[in-house]
Amino acid sequence: MKKIIAPSFLSANFACLQKEIDMLNNSQAEWFHLDIMDGCFVPNISFGFPVVEAIRNQTTKILDVHLMIVDPDRYIDRFAAIGADYLTVHAETCVHLHRTLQNIKNSGMKAGVALNPHTPLSAIEEILYMADLILIMSVNPGFGAQTFIEASLNKIKRLREMIDNQHLDTLIESDGGISPKNAASLFNAGCNVLVAGNAIFKSSNPIETIEQLLKAQ
Ligand code: DX5
Ligand code: ZN
Repeated sequence: MKKIIAPSFLSANFACLQKEIDMLNNSQAEWFHLDIMDGCFVPNISFGFPVVEAIRNQTTKILDVHLMIVDPDRYIDRFAAIGADYLTVHAETCVHLHRTLQNIKNSGMKAGVALNPHTPLSAIEEILYMADLILIMSVNPGFGAQTFIEASLNKIKRLREMIDNQHLDTLIESDGGISPKNAASLFNAGCNVLVAGNAIFKSSNPIETIEQLLKAQ
């Protein structure tokens, strides 16, 4: 099964962004996870297009953009234009999720759907075949360095069954409270992509922490 580590820039040192990008370019992290927050869907504001564009210009790694904004359809074309590879929207923000996924795919990006901890898997049952990625939030979105919600493991196991039963190759990503301590249980539950912010950027040796996450078993 494919295993990917996606460091979340929310915990990066923005005064030394170039240094952080260089460090990750030399690491085993295949994806860069970029959290876009609007202060409306979530109670925090992060960063926007200029930062995503600056990062795009400094890496050839996959840009995994996680939109925590209301009415995300407004910005699909702009994220495609600045080179996002995966664009993930929250099911809770999309009245016409089927159409939103079509729009993301038509713009040339891979389409992801994120679910808050309280949102049941049934919310994505009918569009699972269209999604390249399902993001299971393992904290309530908005902030880094929160505590992992253990019930996420059971949710990931059930999602893995749904995907395998339909013979799909949809990736499962988990985001929030992830560290080398719980990485193995997430991979064992069927997760492909582990997002980690605090655990990587606040580590005394981020490159080694990425390796520990990847090799966790
Ligand atoms: C939370 C964000 C996460 C966050 C994870 O709303 O979606 O990507 O940066 O941070 P950690 O790994 O510190 O919990
Ligand atoms: Zn995220």
